[in-house]
Formats: sequence, structure tokens, C-alpha cells
Amino acid sequence: MSARQTLASWKKLQQLAQEKKSQHMNTLFAEDGERFNKFSIELPNLLLDYSKNLIDSETLDTLLTLAQETEVCEWRAKMFGGDKINKTEDRAVLHTALRRKSDEPLIIDGENVTQHVQKQLAEMEVFVDKVRQGHWLGYSGKRITDIVNIGVGGSNLGPQMVTEALKHYSDGSVNVHYVSNVDGAQIVEVLRPLDPEKVMFIVSSKTFTTTETMTNARTAMKWLTSASFDEKSIAKHFVAVTANKENAMSFGIEEQNIFDMWDWVGGRFSLWSAIGLAIALDLGFDKFKELLDGAHEMDQHFINAPLKDNMPAIMALISVWNTTFLGAQSQAILPYDQTLHMLTAYLQQAEMESNGKSVTWDGVDVDYATVPSIWGELGINGQHAFYQYLHQSNNVVPADFIGSVESVTPVQGHHETLMANFFAQTQALMAGVNEEQVRADLKAKGRTPEYIDQVAPHKVHKGNRPTNTILMKRIDPKTIGSLIAAYEHKIFVQGIVLQICSFDQWGVELGKGLAAEIQDELESGNIANGHDCSTKSLLKFYLSTK
Ligand code: F6P
Repeated sequence: MSARQTLASWKKLQQLAQEKKSQHMNTLFAEDGERFNKFSIELPNLLLDYSKNLIDSETLDTLLTLAQETEVCEWRAKMFGGDKINKTEDRAVLHTALRRKSDEPLIIDGENVTQHVQKQLAEMEVFVDKVRQGHWLGYSGKRITDIVNIGVGGSNLGPQMVTEALKHYSDGSVNVHYVSNVDGAQIVEVLRPLDPEKVMFIVSSKTFTTTETMTNARTAMKWLTSASFDEKSIAKHFVAVTANKENAMSFGIEEQNIFDMWDWVGGRFSLWSAIGLAIALDLGFDKFKELLDGAHEMDQHFINAPLKDNMPAIMALISVWNTTFLGAQSQAILPYDQTLHMLTAYLQQAEMESNGKSVTWDGVDVDYATVPSIWGELGINGQHAFYQYLHQSNNVVPADFIGSVESVTPVQGHHETLMANFFAQTQALMAGVNEEQVRADLKAKGRTPEYIDQVAPHKVHKGNRPTNTILMKRIDPKTIGSLIAAYEHKIFVQGIVLQICSFDQWGVELGKGLAAEIQDELESGNIANGHDCSTKSLLKFYLSTK
């Protein structure tokens, strides 16, 4: 049994889960007209309504006690203070330092993090302005018009998700493209319309060893060099963002074109660093700073607000309640704004790579559910695809509905239709419709008793499906910064409460190592012993069919 399960609050939550499972949110709303006021948090640019969860004051208080007993506030201070809370890698976790406003030194292993960050921001600004204003010229003297970010996982998802979310703020000084997939189809497609004389590649890789990224970077290098110019010209078309300067330089990137990464920034939390260069190039440095400002505001809220009014802490506790205590196995992320179409994929990595683990940070097996599997899609599209499952399947899937009050691209009537669906869905998921109501409705429509008997069971929606509503005033750089930082801190709190080391990712190594071995076999045609018979036969089939 892990230490968490011995806590009084944990035991009480287990007992409450048994008692409250049979309650219906309809009753909770009928009994308490103040639920919204009690169970929502409003910040200047974001509103969280978590009242449509199966919680009441007793449950919330017990969840807050759990947060206290698991020392969330103490761990929060450790994270912001630079303690090495990434225990298995012996690293500090300081993505928050990337958007910090203070000039106070923050010393990690004898290095002043504040200084590093300020220096990097200044370098980024100079570089971004130079490229955007057309002062950085390609080898033939033409201005750079297209940026291709090559990276995967955290070196892709964050920047690309933000680029998409804020695309209406781009002034088109440059066009930004992303290549993450090692399937050559992607890079071929991205490069096809581009002119090598006007392209800048950013190789984004903290480790500078990731096979997919290195393969794509080599292809990009070949594409560039086959377009006639000499090696020296590479400096004008290639920059890198990495913590592994040595590898980047031996790859052929000039030292002055390498932006630092540090081991105290995790890949999936890195869009605030030079990994976000593509965002800054697309939007301009001022808007990139606004993104950082929004995240900083959320950091301040997370540090200062009491846990009961603390948006990220509450988001985490609700998730723990739904998953660990009420047994939900997955969670849907449902953005209702076209520009947020990559948010689910981004949060999949952020949450699942962080907390998808089954031992505590002390290496003890946990026998409780940790993070749910995160899935979803633009909500409005999902309504015509998988919402049937959300409404009527046997599995309860808690969902985050994320939308904005104002539309960035108002087209008459569209936003109201979109948002009407947004509000309708959370009400329907919560309230449902019982058999009595279904029957009365069918009767009122003049249906025969036989028809009603046949169809009524299919039209019943049990409701009681938990949702959070996150409403932004408007999608802008600052708000997006706050939104992402809220989820980052949610993940941190979840990790602390569940006693999970959220900042390592050992689970991705096994497959990576095996893939490298199998690649050798595919290239040489010699299948090694040691594979199970399924894998061996598949490899044989592949090689013989080629
Ligand atoms: O998938 C594992 C992972 O290490 C992620 O954590 C990371 O974001 C991604 O690969 C890319 O890593 P890198 O930036 O080192 O290329």
C-alpha cells in the first residue's frame, strides 16, 4: 500500500466516493441554487465552472484536506524555488523561471537561471526581429519568408499548438511550418512549395539525439545543399535549440546559431523557452512576451491563491476525484474553437507523459488509478462523432469544455451557434433525460404506446456526466499563456497528490531502444534472434514483401 492510501483524507474520500456515487447532480442542483457560486473560479481572463461534477462541499473540503496532507503548497514552493523535485533524474523543474519577472538570482548547480533566461530572451528578440524585418538574408541575399520547425513531442506540440491557437495574430512577416513525423511524406509535402533560398530551419531538440528529428534534419540539410550552395551557407538557413550543443555543432550548425536549452526545462513544458522560437517568429517578440506574461499571471495566481480558490489546484483535485476515487478511466478535452484544434494532442503529452505512471516517486507500486487517458477533438466535430458515447455509453468520461466569449473571427451567427452547442452539451451531459420524461415527450408527440415502449429505453440519457467549463474572454496570447500554465500546474498538483514523479518519462525509452535495433535489422535484412514469434514473423513478412 502506498503512503497516500494511509492518509485520513484519502480514506474519507474512498468512503465518500461509495456514498456519493449513487447521487445525481440533478438533485445537487435542485437542492442548492448556489452551486455555481460555490464551485467556480473567475480570474481576469478565464472562468472555471466545476459545479457540474459529482461534488459537494464535504467532498471538496476533503479533497482540499488531501492537498494539505500531501503538502501541495510545500512542494509548490520547492518547484518554484528550484529544488530538484524531478527525483529520478535529479533535476530542478523550472519552466516557470522562463516567464518570471523578477531579477532576483535563482541559483541551480551554481548557475544563475535568471541570467540565462534573460540572456536567452534578449538573443531571441534580436534574432526574431532580424528575421521578421528582413535583415537576416539567405545565402543568395533574399529575405527569409518561411520557417520550418523540425522537432517532435514537446519540441513540436507546444509551439505548433500555440501557433495554431494564435494564427489570427500573425502579421504574415514569415510563414511557419512544422515537421514532426519521420514519415517522409510530411517533410516532402512541407518542402515542396518552398524556395531553399528563403527558408530557415529550426532544429528543436533538447537532446539532439531524437531519431525522428535527426532524420528530418538530415533530409532538410540535403534538400538545402542539393539546391546548389556551399556548406558555409548553412549558417544562414539552420538554427538549433538544444541542451546538446556538441551534437548540434557536429551536425553542422554554427555555434552562434544555437539557442540553449537546460535540463531544468522538461520537453513538454518548454514552449516558453527558445523551443518557442517559431511562435515568436510568427507573432513577433512582443506577442511572445504577452504569452509569457499570461503564463506568469497564472503562476502568480497558483502561488498566491488559497487552494480552495486556486484554479490549477481545483482542476487537479477534481481530476483526482473523478479518476482515482470515482473510477473514470479517461478524460475528454473538448475545445470549442477551431484555433484550439491541437490542444487535445498537446494536453495528451503534457498529462499522459507526466503522470501516466504506476509507481510512486519512491518506486513503490501504486494500486490506485493515476492519470486518466486523455482524448478528444474539437467539441463541435466530436458532437457528430463520439458524443453518443459520452452521453449514453456505460463508461463515464469526465470532460473539459473550453471555449471563448468573443470570437477572434466573427462571422455573423457562427459563434452563437457554436457556443449554444457548447452550453447545451454540458447541461445535457449533466441533466440527462429520464424515462418518464421521454415517455411524456413521445406521448405529447402523438406516438402509439407500442412505439413508446419500443423506443423509450433508447432515448433515456442517464446524465450525471461530469464536466468542467473553461471560458476565456477571448483567445489572445496572454489568455492562451494563462490557460496552458493552468494545465501545467494542474498536472503538477495531480502528481504531488498521487505521489507520482511528473517530470521524467522513462516509459518512452524501451520502445525507442528496440526501434533502433529493429531499424538495423530492416536495413541489413538480418533479423536477430530474440524477437517473439509475432514480431519475428512480421519483420520477415515486411522484408520479403518489400
Ligand atoms: O517522447 C519522449 C521525448 O523525450 C519527449 O519527452 C520530448 O518532448 C520528445 O521526446 C522530444 O525530445 P527532444 O526534444 O530531445 O528531441
